[in-house]
Amino acid sequence: MKSKKNIVLIGMMGSGKSSIGKILSKKLNVSFIDIDRKIEEVESLSISDIFKKNGEKYFRKIEEKISLKYLKSENNVISLGGGGFINSSIRKLCQKTCLSFWLNWKNETIINRIYKSKKRPVVIKLTKDKINSLIKERSKIYELSNYKINCDKLDKDQIINRILDIYENK
Ligand code: S3P
Repeated sequence: MKSKKNIVLIGMMGSGKSSIGKILSKKLNVSFIDIDRKIEEVESLSISDIFKKNGEKYFRKIEEKISLKYLKSENNVISLGGGGFINSSIRKLCQKTCLSFWLNWKNETIINRIYKSKKRPVVIKLTKDKINSLIKERSKIYELSNYKINCDKLDKDQIINRILDIYENK
């Protein structure tokens, strides 16, 4: 990696942050930090069970703490949870110290991927219309990232290469 800034991947659940992040980090020979997995490690529970046992408010507190901790590191690829960048403290630190990439997809692509998913407590009970509204609302904030990658017409390698191109030419 040329610069020491972290690459941070943001976007809705189902946007591929984890799978893209893993490959990207291998290409750059740096560590990959998946914030959801770190939260699960610390709590010794799955994300769904954290929501079930302690509720969303508790999850958001842990998410903030863990995200801020890893965003202070350098030279990593980090995948935030879909709600991470919505938190203003997390977002501000990202904007200050990292290069953020929004993996943007058409709403219907995301909805088809996450509708009724048991692993996604935020949307499990939402109708397609409600998920659509959530995406619209969050997109206004995701827009505040450094780069928006429109992914629908790209394959995985093309998405990764686009991020690498931007990063390496910084
Ligand atoms: C959430 C997204 C999830 C996870 C939690 C809440 C959200 O992460 O952090 O279920 O609010 O969008 P992924 O985006 O990695 O699925």
